[in-house]
Amino acid sequence: MSDRTPLIAGNWKLNLDPVEAAAVASALVPAVADRGDTEVALFPTALSVPAVVQAVQGSGITVGIQEIHDQPGGAFTGTNSAAMARAVGCAWALIGHSERRQLFGETDEGVGRKVTAALAAGLLPMVCLGETLDQRDAGQVEHVVTRQLAAALGTLRPDEVATLTLAYEPVWAIGTGRTASPDQAQEVHAVLRAWLRNHYPAYVADQVRVLYGGSVKPGNAAELLSCPDIDGALVGGASLKADSFAAIVHAA
Ligand code: 13P
Repeated sequence: MSDRTPLIAGNWKLNLDPVEAAAVASALVPAVADRGDTEVALFPTALSVPAVVQAVQGSGITVGIQEIHDQPGGAFTGTNSAAMARAVGCAWALIGHSERRQLFGETDEGVGRKVTAALAAGLLPMVCLGETLDQRDAGQVEHVVTRQLAAALGTLRPDEVATLTLAYEPVWAIGTGRTASPDQAQEVHAVLRAWLRNHYPAYVADQVRVLYGGSVKPGNAAELLSCPDIDGALVGGASLKADSFAAIVHAA
């Protein structure tokens, strides 16, 4: 881990209704009270955001929305805007998760528009990237993740890019129990940071946090987080229970 502040984020996906989400968040507050510098963020389903915002109030734990539209409002049935997420207490917007890309038709260009929309509303974008198993087997990892990254950043100014968080989530490691090895993860994180270093002033690559996601568990978190370019974790399944998520926070 570098001198970037570690960040451990929980993506609750379509789990935990408002009552359940508030219970997990309330249990998490004392369980991570001694986390030192490490930042903690939770991404509940949009309907559970207000309950979680209330449950973590005063704890320093921050909350994000899992998905936003790229427009501030209008005839877009069934979605949420960045400004509305901000209004109910979100600090973050998750953008480009592989489940959005694979199941809901999210495109690289759509990710770029949503990053711009999030920044305009004062949300911190957390941009997910990662290759499928076929792409890895075909030797396309670097090509895929740098293409996704370039599209996500578009024409943002360096000072805007510096505020972003990236999450490298190899699709084959999500929900499969098959995590990337620390060497495999570090290799891709280093690729992403090198790309930033080649395209922006040096402070940008130094500042942007790159989280790893994909079957992070209490038992493998410390080793992953000890890699120089891994600045934290985006945790799915193991974030749904306060004790396992707290153990990952303490591994940071
Ligand atoms: P799992 O930790 O369940 O593999 O999910 C990872 C993920 O998709 C986080 O966004």
